[in-house]
Amino acid sequence: MTPDQLRSKYLNFFKKHGHAIVPSAPLVPENDPTTLFTGSGMQPMVPYLLGETHPLGTRIVDSQKCFRSQDIEEVGDNRHTTFFEMLGNWSLGDYFKAEQIEWVYTFLVDEVGLDPMKLYITCFGGDKEAGVDKDTQAEEIWLKLFKKRNINPEGRISFYGSDKNWWSRAGIPKNMPLGEPGGPDSEIFYDFGSELNLHEDSPFNGEECHVNCDCGRFLEIGNSVFMAYVKTEQGFKDLKGKNIDFGGGFERILAVMDNQQDVFKTELFSPIIKQIERLSGKKYEDNLMAFRVISDHIKAATFLAADGVFPNNKEQGYFSRRLVRRSVRYGLELGIEKNFIAELVPTIASIYLNQYPELDNQKEKIKNIFEIEENKFKKAIDKGLKELSKINQFTAKTAFNLYETYGFPLELSLEEAKRMGKEIEQGIESKFIDKRAAHAQKSRTASAGMFKGGLQENSVTTTKYHTATHLLQAALRKVLGPQVEQKGSNITEKRLRFDFSFERAMTDEEKTAVEQQINQWIKESQPVSKQIMEKKKALASGVMAFFAEKYPDEVSVYSIGPEGHYLSRELCGGPHVESTEQIGEIYIQKEKSASAGVRRIYIGLKN
Ligand code: ALA
Repeated sequence: MTPDQLRSKYLNFFKKHGHAIVPSAPLVPENDPTTLFTGSGMQPMVPYLLGETHPLGTRIVDSQKCFRSQDIEEVGDNRHTTFFEMLGNWSLGDYFKAEQIEWVYTFLVDEVGLDPMKLYITCFGGDKEAGVDKDTQAEEIWLKLFKKRNINPEGRISFYGSDKNWWSRAGIPKNMPLGEPGGPDSEIFYDFGSELNLHEDSPFNGEECHVNCDCGRFLEIGNSVFMAYVKTEQGFKDLKGKNIDFGGGFERILAVMDNQQDVFKTELFSPIIKQIERLSGKKYEDNLMAFRVISDHIKAATFLAADGVFPNNKEQGYFSRRLVRRSVRYGLELGIEKNFIAELVPTIASIYLNQYPELDNQKEKIKNIFEIEENKFKKAIDKGLKELSKINQFTAKTAFNLYETYGFPLELSLEEAKRMGKEIEQGIESKFIDKRAAHAQKSRTASAGMFKGGLQENSVTTTKYHTATHLLQAALRKVLGPQVEQKGSNITEKRLRFDFSFERAMTDEEKTAVEQQINQWIKESQPVSKQIMEKKKALASGVMAFFAEKYPDEVSVYSIGPEGHYLSRELCGGPHVESTEQIGEIYIQKEKSASAGVRRIYIGLKN
C-alpha cells in the first residue's frame, strides 16, 4: 500500500461512517496566540470541541500536517520526527467510546491488515486529584471486541495514570490552563516481538518490558481521546457534548504494515535518504543520526516554508532556521562540502505531490531561500572558526557561545580547538552540558509562558481581536478603497497585526479616519451573526475570503451589521463576539511597510 492509498483508505473508511472529510489546516495556527505551530490534529478543532458548531456537522475526518518544535532534539531514533501527519477523526458531541474503539480497531485490523495479536491497548487508570475515575467502560468495550475475534485478552490491556493516558494540549490535568479541553484516552500499540530483545538497550533495563517502555519493542500507533471535560476554577466540568479526538500516526502505521520499526524506511522518507546517500557517498545504516536529522528537518522546513514560514530570528522563523542550520551541520559531518539543502526540496515535494501540491507549486521559491540560508550559515561557521582562532583557552563558555551563535556542536568546536592547539578547560564536556541544560530549561519556561493566563482569559481577548480584524478590513476598504485585501494576520494578547495590499504609507488623516470608523461601529453595537453556506454560493454573493481554497466546501460566514445592511461579511471559523460593543475602544499602534505593495498595521485594545 502506498502512503497515498493508506491516507485515502482512512479518510474513506470514516466517510463511510458518516464523517465529512476536511483538508489539513496550515502548520501555523491562525489567530491562536497560545501556540506557534499546529502540533496535533485537534489544534484546528479546538473551537468545535469547546462547542462551536462545525459547518460540516458532528463527524469530521482528516489528515493533518503537524510540526512539534519541542522534538527537534529528539530526532535520531527510529520513530521521532518533528514533522508528521496525524490521521484524525472527531465526534463533536456525537458518537462516543463504543463506536470509536470499534471503528478504529476494525480499520487497523480489517482495512490495514494488522495482525490483532500484535496490538496492545492502554486505558486510563483514574486520577483522584482531577476527580476522574478509572476508565472501565473503555476496557469493557475492548474486551468485547477481543471476544468477538477469539483473542485471549490476558495481558492485552494495561492501565496507566494521567502521565500516560490523559490527553490535553498542555499535558496532565494539573498543567492545563482554565478553559482547556481534555480527557482520558486509550492508546494502541504495535508489538514487534519479544524475540527482538531490544530491552537490553533500554533505560528500563532490568525491569519487565511494558508497552510504554522506550526500548522500541512497542510502537504507539493511535490514540483515542475521550474529550469530555473542560478545566474550570471549580475543577473539571463535563463539556456540553462528549467528544472524540483520535490521532493516528500516519508514518508509523505505514511502517508497521510492513512490520518495519524504522519510519525512515517508509516511502515517505526513502527517496530523501537515497538522495543523501548519493550526495554524501555514505550509507544510511552507518550514519543513522545524520540521515534522520537531515531528512526530517528539511522535510519539516519545506512544509513550513510552503505555509509561509522561512528562516529568520523571529518566532516561527527561528525554528525554520534551526532546522536548516542543524541539517547543514550534519551534512558537513557526512562530508557533503557543497550546498545541498535546496536540492532536497523537489524530492520532498514529489513524495507529497498528490496530497500537498503547495510544496511543488512553491519549490523554486523555497529552494532559493534555503540556498541563501545555507550560504549565510556557512559564512557564520567561518566567522565562528575565526573567533575560535583568536582565543587562548577553550572554555565551556566559549563552547556554549559558539553553539548558541553559530550552531557549533561541542564536538566540532572541541575538534577545531584541538587542531588549533588551544588549551582546553578541565571538565569542559560536563560544564558545557550543564550550561546547555540550564538554557533549555529557560527556553521551556519561556514557551510555557505562551500558555500563561489560560485559554479562557486569552480567548476573551482573542475573540475581541478576531472581530476587530473584520472591522479593520471593512474600515480600510472604506477609507482607502476596494483594492485593499487582507494578506495575513496575527493576534496576541496585546495586539492585532494585519497585513493588507496597498501601495503607499497611510496618511495621518487616513489613519484617524480608519480608527474613528471602527470605534463608531463598535459604539453602534452592531450585531455579529453566523451562517453556514456552500462555499461557492458564499463567494458568488461577494463574501470576502482570505485564502478561500483552504476552506472546505461548506463554510461558516460571519457577518457584522443588521441583515441586508451588512458592513462586513467574511468566510471565517470564528470565534467572534456577539455584538461589536463587546470589543471596547481600539486604537492604531502603528502602520508601516511589510513588503513590496503590502502594508502592516497594528491595533490595540484601549482597555
Ligand atoms: N490529540 C491526540 C494526540 O495528539 C489524539 O495524541
